Amino acid sequence: MIKSGKDIIFASKLIRDGKLVAFPTETVYGLGANGLDAKAVARIFEAKKRPSFDPLILHISSIDDLETVFKKPISPLIFQLAEKYWPGPLTIVAPKTTKVPDIVSAGLSTVAVRMPSHKVAQKLIKQAGVPIAAPSANLFGRLSPTQAQHVKEQLTTIDYLLDGGTTNIGLESTIIAVSGNTIEILRPGAITPDRLQADFPKVKIVASSTEKHIQAPGQLKSHYSPRKPLYLYDEMPEVLPAYAGLLLFEPAPIPEGAQSKIKLLSATGDLLEAASNMFNALHDFEADRSIEQIYAVKIKEEGIGLAIMDRINKAAYRFTHFVDENGISEGEG
Ligand code: TXA
Ligand code: MG
Repeated sequence: MIKSGKDIIFASKLIRDGKLVAFPTETVYGLGANGLDAKAVARIFEAKKRPSFDPLILHISSIDDLETVFKKPISPLIFQLAEKYWPGPLTIVAPKTTKVPDIVSAGLSTVAVRMPSHKVAQKLIKQAGVPIAAPSANLFGRLSPTQAQHVKEQLTTIDYLLDGGTTNIGLESTIIAVSGNTIEILRPGAITPDRLQADFPKVKIVASSTEKHIQAPGQLKSHYSPRKPLYLYDEMPEVLPAYAGLLLFEPAPIPEGAQSKIKLLSATGDLLEAASNMFNALHDFEADRSIEQIYAVKIKEEGIGLAIMDRINKAAYRFTHFVDENGISEGEG
């Protein structure tokens, strides 16, 4: 579905007026507001019921916009990363300028920035003429939206929704923090650690340390949950009851007499395809009244499998552990 230029111009005016516009990106739908307007950004937190300790991502449409959001001197590595992966699913965290309101970064001295490749997102940001602050367009802790319909179901108080069909990647961007010659992966995504290392052999790539204070809900143990119990299996379960829905990332032998509904996310075992279908399938199971429980069979945590397992582990966590409404388990936070 292609949006006409008229809709995007209308939406960009709303952004400049401090209103909320949900829009498609190549990863998931975002809920956008003028990223330089603290009051507009406050409305995002309200609409999502998002805790204020959770900072947002600023979306830009040109490398020149970096100087508005990142404090000088901007590290040459940041420009190299931007050249290589933007527009695309990589978010870079670095020290912010004073132009970026504290509410965007939840009081942190750093800000997260990315340049989306989706044409509707690019046009919207360009027309608005300001960086657009946008978290995923879901209620806090719920499944991420990969279709306009998912946004409609969860967010009823927004001003406008640009429908761009189903998102292509279907998983939120990779988030990295850059300091000196080190890249820390704060949230895995389509840009994998292997790919970063291959493209930047001299840079040290480290996984986010879990001992540190949690900076991103992407780092919480519980997040992205369906409203039905989700249980993970190391291997195909021996019994599949009729009330269960089974999520399979790659082809596997189905037990004899299995009665459950099965969603194979990629018939050829292509994990990129499986990643792009994951949230869609979870939304479908969530809406299907004949299903009471969702099962998923784990895959190896390598390549894009790292991002897939990150999301599915967090989606399943609350069904086997105690967590409060902010997704924080005992001893965490
Ligand atoms: O693909 C995406 O990144 C989507 C689309 C809409 O662009 N957006 C998205 O936003 O996933 P959200 O808000 O759901 O996730 C943003 C993550 C949060 O976990 C947040 O805590 C983290 O980025 N983040 C933002 N600023 C940060 C900072 N200064 N330091 C560390 N993490 C930060
Ligand atoms: Mg989110």
